[in-house]
Amino acid sequence: MNKLRLLLVSVLVVSGLTVSAGPVEDAIAQRIARVGSVCVEGTDCVQATAALIVTGSEAGDPETNYKKTCATCHNTGVAGAPKLGDVAQWQPRIAKGIDALYVSSISGMPPGMPAKGMCFNCTDDELKAIVDYMVEASR
Ligand code: HEC
Repeated sequence: MNKLRLLLVSVLVVSGLTVSAGPVEDAIAQRIARVGSVCVEGTDCVQATAALIVTGSEAGDPETNYKKTCATCHNTGVAGAPKLGDVAQWQPRIAKGIDALYVSSISGMPPGMPAKGMCFNCTDDELKAIVDYMVEASR
């Protein structure tokens, strides 16, 4: 009998009908519905999705971006990467001018420094902002 009711509930849910036969059926229906819930334009779930997309495209502040990618090498000096905060290591690089550093961060500096510092989602402006952050922290 229980199996039959379950089957019936599943069929009703799959066919998109609202089931409110009882607490157990409601719970089952809710659990099943979450998996493929449909977002209808103008409802709360659509706004929630839009908010998520906006947060996703805002890559975060330079410090956060730095920690996500550049820090892997620049915190410890992997492969000779100038360490964040190491004034002596940064001095000759800063002396080249900020534009040269922007170019290195965007195009890379073979063999050690990969293009975009491996922050493949970063825009050029975001990369420049990270370089500004690194330079400021290393003067
Ligand atoms: C895989 C390791 C690695 C990662 C990840 C990395 N770097 Fe580097 N970076 C290096 C190395 C090594 C150098 C030194 C290259 C050289 O002097 O030949 C360097 C040098 C630099 C320089 C100095 C360039 C110059 O012209 O002197 C800048 C600026 C820089 N990195 C920015 C970044 C930024 C911004 C990120 C993150 C978006 C990043 N790096 C991520 C390894 C890395």
